[in-house]
Amino acid sequence: MNNPNVVVVGATGAVGRVFLRILEQRHFPVNRLRLCASPRSIGKRIRVHGEELPVEETTPDIFDDADFAFISASTAVSRELAPVAAQRGALVIDDSSAYRMDPRVPLVVPEINPQDLEWHQNLTAIPNCSTTQMVMALYPLHRANPIKRIIADSYQAVSGTGTLAMDELRQQSRALLDGASVKPSVYPHQIAFNVLPHIEPFMEDGYTREEQKMLYETRKIMHAPDIAVSATCVRVPVYLSHSEAVHVEFEEPMSPQEARELMAAFPGVKVLDDPKTNTYPLAIDAADRDEVFVGRIRKDSSHPNGLAMWIVSDNLRKGAALNAIQIAEEVLKRELLKPRG
Ligand code: A2P
Repeated sequence: MNNPNVVVVGATGAVGRVFLRILEQRHFPVNRLRLCASPRSIGKRIRVHGEELPVEETTPDIFDDADFAFISASTAVSRELAPVAAQRGALVIDDSSAYRMDPRVPLVVPEINPQDLEWHQNLTAIPNCSTTQMVMALYPLHRANPIKRIIADSYQAVSGTGTLAMDELRQQSRALLDGASVKPSVYPHQIAFNVLPHIEPFMEDGYTREEQKMLYETRKIMHAPDIAVSATCVRVPVYLSHSEAVHVEFEEPMSPQEARELMAAFPGVKVLDDPKTNTYPLAIDAADRDEVFVGRIRKDSSHPNGLAMWIVSDNLRKGAALNAIQIAEEVLKRELLKPRG
């Protein structure tokens, strides 16, 4: 086929801008690229592949000749636009939680379940960033020795909330260092020099929606409906990269060395694990990198079949934009774009 036409909804946002950078870096073949955002941004110009492209209004017509529509705006925007784009013939790759658990929608990490793309109905979803990096590290272990239970505590960067949250962290940090007071607006509490055990709304069972995503999305991606996951998701004053302390219980014992070898052999995962030299993954080192980094791999002293580890990844890249582009690449490789009309 000819190179695909691509529409990016949310092109001015934290994920959208990284998406455009990765399109260039991976030389993703594009015929026509169109950029959309909210009405506030109409007329802005964004440089892609050396060309200044205008930000356009997100109207239904914009999807008419699109082969791929990447949507990263808000759940409400996805709810409204994803069906419209799909119905007009674009394959939607959606970054919101709107459709992830819909049984008609493949939820895909291409290194893990690319085969799920075969049954797409023009709508696919990428997982939540905190889920993606966890399943990337755990799936190679799960294939060798099924996982029964996961306890995960996340330390999530503010870029996961978007541009306004990154601005808020910057402004609050400056103000507090200058001795001024701050008034939170994006988060319910001050985020600078603080740690918030609260990402997304609280649900009836006491977990937050973000924590529930780590359970349900993990099961769907790994095709493992019985895995138990208990997560505590925490927002920390870091700009980029989520970190996670993860404790895993397997059916059989697994040595840390076996786990290191399995993860090191898995595409997209890099083991950084040498306590003697203080080598372990760090948020600042993972920023702008494609890999999911794992370290601090050790026996869980509280369970004979357990391992504990530390997982870090750039939440805007593998956690969002890169995973979306990998899905598009996989769709092209498998020739899964549906004929128009
Ligand atoms: P805008 O920049 O015009 O507000 P972030 O996650 O960094 O906050 O970015 C969210 C992205 O979603 C931005 O590109 C934002 O555009 C875009 N967006 C917000 N509302 C809409 C909408 N109603 N239609 C299309 N894009 C939207």
